Amino acid sequence: MSPPPFWLMRQAGRYLPEYRALRERAGSFLDMCFTPDLAVEVTLQPLRRFDMDAAILFSDILVVPHSLGQEVRFVEGEGPRLAPFGFSPAPRWEPESFDAALAAVYAAVARLRAELPPHKSLIGFAGAPWTVACYMVQGHGDGIFSAAKRFAFSDPGGFDQLIAILTTATTHYLSRQAENGADVVQLFDSWAGLLPEPYFTRWVTGPAAEIFSGLRARFPRLGLLGFPRQAGRLVPAYAAATGADGVGLDAQFPVTAAREILPPTVALQGDLDPALLCAGGVALDDAVRRLLDAASGRPFVFNLAHGVMKETPPAHVARLAEILRRGAA
Ligand code: CP3
Repeated sequence: MSPPPFWLMRQAGRYLPEYRALRERAGSFLDMCFTPDLAVEVTLQPLRRFDMDAAILFSDILVVPHSLGQEVRFVEGEGPRLAPFGFSPAPRWEPESFDAALAAVYAAVARLRAELPPHKSLIGFAGAPWTVACYMVQGHGDGIFSAAKRFAFSDPGGFDQLIAILTTATTHYLSRQAENGADVVQLFDSWAGLLPEPYFTRWVTGPAAEIFSGLRARFPRLGLLGFPRQAGRLVPAYAAATGADGVGLDAQFPVTAAREILPPTVALQGDLDPALLCAGGVALDDAVRRLLDAASGRPFVFNLAHGVMKETPPAHVARLAEILRRGAA
């Protein structure tokens, strides 16, 4: 059996000493994202160590609200902070100023595609409208986003307008990444699992379907990955409605369930718990072997259920790469 392709969400980042060293010299996190030399270097760091099959652009989902004019800061040890945001009227969509703000990201994508060997995929990404709107409305992350949900449920028509602007901006942003050389794009909907029906269909599935059909029409060869995190039983409907080439999976809808339910044309991606990678040892070895068995015979991309934890020893990632390269034996 040939080993599956692998990459890891947050494969670049604070668990790597070379990232921490560069981050200290760079100043702010956003300076890193908006300096092509630094973004390219950080993107390539994990591939040098672990030889993943794909590089994911080093950036953040919150560069989109930043480029729509909302102030975004990353506070050390506390995560992102966004300025209070007026919603009536909703932010204006101005592609010229948006592109000007993101020019450095597009330059990093072009440089990465030029520097990577042809057999390594370059993955671009964006946050999905719902997840980005959660941060825009609430101003910070807390894992439950009850303030953002209260806002959305009390004025769904107004929230639709914000989602519509983000859907347009995200389609445009990912199109620019594709034009500059991204082979695949992933739409991160980290907080998809917080929405009950019918709002899941309205603010998660609908926007993803619109973004993917816009991209598909312009870039028929671009790979489209959707990650409606913790969406559980709603994942099959999401996969069907969005036409994603692959979906990111986690414990709420694991590979063992997805292989029975999703059509074989949809690639499965996931679903190793990041804490297993952090723990290492026998627990990691066993989980990886079980996952490879569960995915056998399906189009499969090995990944985590969420991003690499910052406490993860790099040696455990090296061990994972070794098991994958050797195959399931
Ligand atoms: O996967 C990769 O290697 C590419 C880089 C990437 C980052 N953020 C770098 C980052 C990607 C794909 C993201 C996506 C992202 N950002 C998501 C969706 C995926 C997910 O994790 O659910 C979300 C919700 C964000 C918003 C965000 N950015 C948060 C909540 C935080 C703080 C939490 C933390 O880990 O500190 C960030 C900061 C951030 N984005 C860091 C990195 C490497 C840490 C910043 C630092 O170096 O201090």
